[in-house]
Amino acid sequence: MMNEEQKIYFDAYSKQIEDVLDLVMTRLKVMLDEVSKDPEQAPFEHLICRIKSVESIKEKLIQRGLPDDVASAVKNLNDIVGIRVVTHFIGDIYSILDMIYEHSSWDVVQVKDYIATPKENGYRSLHVIIRVPFENSDEGMGVELQLRTITMDCWAALEHKIRYKKHVKNTALISAELKRCADEMASTDLTMQTIRDVLAQTEKL
Ligand code: GTP
Ligand code: MG
Repeated sequence: MMNEEQKIYFDAYSKQIEDVLDLVMTRLKVMLDEVSKDPEQAPFEHLICRIKSVESIKEKLIQRGLPDDVASAVKNLNDIVGIRVVTHFIGDIYSILDMIYEHSSWDVVQVKDYIATPKENGYRSLHVIIRVPFENSDEGMGVELQLRTITMDCWAALEHKIRYKKHVKNTALISAELKRCADEMASTDLTMQTIRDVLAQTEKL
């Protein structure tokens, strides 16, 4: 999971960090599998995880005026370990959020609902910070969970791809177009949810 650079940087913390990632991934999978024995009825499309790159960690710490060593990173950052749950429908995001709240393996310390309140550029997702028990630390370690639909994930991936070319500055027109795409995709997400609700009602009849 970790590359050489990460192993060197995380050093004595490497195993603990990998253990935290494994624990949260395993518990999440069990939690999600419990919803239905039928994989067709699973409340998510896919689940991915990553350990933040050393470059991004240092950049973030320096930006915040904090020391950029590993102890500082573990103490100050909540997204060294990041997990993304991608769902088919918006409703599934909130069902999963309820399950995350109820789970005894961690404490939910923050929820940012960029679905109810999208970012100015149109970005949508639900971000949940949980704290997981961590050796020699009373506060535990923060882990960032991002919950989004495949449609939101699609927009975020495309936006990231465009934004990544930093030498090309986004003009007001490009930003407005990206935002328009995000809003149109969000509208599609709502329609899909409605269709699903109607079908679920019909099945019950
Ligand atoms: P940072 O973690 O420093 O970005 O700020 P923050 O702690 O306020 O985090 P926030 O919850 O706003 O967003 C953290 C993560 O969400 C980022 O690392 C990205 O993975 C994702 N994200 C947030 N905004 C955007 C966006 O505009 N576009 C894309 N593609 N991803 C985003
Ligand atoms: Mg963050």
